[in-house]
Amino acid sequence: MKNKRVRKCLFPAAGYGTRFLPATKAIPKEMLPVLTKPLLQYGVEEAISAGLDTMAIVTGRGKRAIEDHFDISYELEHQIKGTSKEHYLTEIRDVITKCTFSYTRQIEMKGLGHAILSGETLIGDEPFAVILADDLCDNEEGDSVLTQMIEVYEKYKCSIVAVEEIPLKDSNKYGVIAGVEIEESLIRVINMVEKPDPKDAPSNLAIIGRYILTPDIFDIIRETKPGKGGEIQITDALLELAKEGKVIAYKFKGRRFDCGSVDGFVEATNYFYKKETL
Ligand code: UTP
Repeated sequence: MKNKRVRKCLFPAAGYGTRFLPATKAIPKEMLPVLTKPLLQYGVEEAISAGLDTMAIVTGRGKRAIEDHFDISYELEHQIKGTSKEHYLTEIRDVITKCTFSYTRQIEMKGLGHAILSGETLIGDEPFAVILADDLCDNEEGDSVLTQMIEVYEKYKCSIVAVEEIPLKDSNKYGVIAGVEIEESLIRVINMVEKPDPKDAPSNLAIIGRYILTPDIFDIIRETKPGKGGEIQITDALLELAKEGKVIAYKFKGRRFDCGSVDGFVEATNYFYKKETL
């Protein structure tokens, strides 16, 4: 396992997206577009930019639009071929040719940890990345957030979580870590707590939706009891690895938008609109 390179990216995309109802009643949250591109496509493009070529998507009921999106629509291709509109398909065609997609379903929504465990069948015994597509990341200055994380993984060969500083009052929305700085922007994690009250937060460093995980996490999740909110939390499972010094938190370069919330979604839309029209 130790020397295996990260090739696969897991996208847990089975959640209900209740904060976006009614939009998410029949459309998966991950298919909501920022400008013209669905959130999930941004995530897949980030994974490709980091050198990954195998996308493993954990879906649920009512998520079939995701599979159709990453496939060829022969009717559309036929209609649009040779017309002035053909360029609208360039980006998605490019994505489809650069990687493969496989899917599995999370039968019951028992939390992010459980969704990741549901993906085991697609990942197997190798290190893998996890992207939560509703956390949209961008780094104008250089490498994508996942590319930066792969670099950290290559050096330390252990699980990596991306963190950013948050206002303490928001700690109850995130997994929050504490640890010891081992290099600039790198912290060896010694404690992590899922959605703590501000008074109980071990720091102001919150985990965002980017992870590199080693496959030993699957056995640990299997043993993890439901935690906060009655869900099986990836934070609780990772704490077991952290106790052995096997989790590093990385303060990434770039910006992250919480597109699972309306405010973050609007912010991301404005940001990408400005970026594209400049
Ligand atoms: P969220 O809690 O942000 O997503 O989970 P949600 O449940 O879809 O949204 P709300 O709170 O109801 O509005 C973070 C990520 O984990 C996935 C979600 O799809 C999302 O990408 N997830 C969560 C699962 O795949 N399965 C679960 O059981 C829970």
